[in-house]
Amino acid sequence: MDNRAIGFFDSGLGGLTSIPPLFKALPRERVIYFGDTARTPYGSKAVSTIRQYACQIADFLVSKNVKMLVIACNTISTTCLEELKARFPALPIVGIVSPAAEKVAASCDKTNRIGIIGTKVTIASGAYRDMIRTLAPELTVFDRATPAFVPLIEEGIIENEIMDLTIHYYMDDFVAQNRLDTLVLGCTHYPLLRKNIERLYPGLEIIDPSQEIIGRIRKTLAERDLLADESQEGENVFYASDLSENFTRMIQRILETERSDLILKFKNLDL
Ligand code: DGL
Repeated sequence: MDNRAIGFFDSGLGGLTSIPPLFKALPRERVIYFGDTARTPYGSKAVSTIRQYACQIADFLVSKNVKMLVIACNTISTTCLEELKARFPALPIVGIVSPAAEKVAASCDKTNRIGIIGTKVTIASGAYRDMIRTLAPELTVFDRATPAFVPLIEEGIIENEIMDLTIHYYMDDFVAQNRLDTLVLGCTHYPLLRKNIERLYPGLEIIDPSQEIIGRIRKTLAERDLLADESQEGENVFYASDLSENFTRMIQRILETERSDLILKFKNLDL
């Protein structure tokens, strides 16, 4: 048993989409979250810059004595997972791509036509395609970068025409030409678009890595005897490098809560 917090991080608020399923599946756990809102989005930046930022955030969370690191960001997972594991060899570190690829491999067959959307860096890395092909070479996989989604979501522009037009712009051809029946939301911001996508492309089966990662977190904690025990009480702390009104509002919205145990803090990460 270990009652320390789990460290979660993302380039911004996208990683928050994994927190409600975490609280539901593992209600005794508590989190320290870091969203790099001052420097988001990461998904079109150079890989060397993303690595530098990811190491800074991981160092900060490790200084807070977390028992595990969860990379709740596809862009960071596809570019920095091995580097972070090498930096903290004793710490369990969970990335988001492999649990989702395993879900695709387990739930799809060769009749399916699977699309993956993500940031430019995630799609250019080929990480999803490669992992799915390794696990299930018979599957048919397509991918597309959809880089304008994250800045709109960070602005809270979600349920409106601008977002719908942007989704049409990136996805109409992608879905139709490839005759997709399954879509992987390969960016942790994208679950916030799930309703728009379901409305615009009814019948598309959606696989959400932000949910799939929870099983991996549970398994890793259980294997290492790190699950929190029943008596634990504590705070969930959410840091942002730019603690804007927007971030505060989106936290309440994504977590659908006015919980008093959510503590918001600002942390400036100097380069
Ligand atoms: N949530 C991040 C991801 O999963 C967003 C990336 C970005 O900042 O562009 O890739």
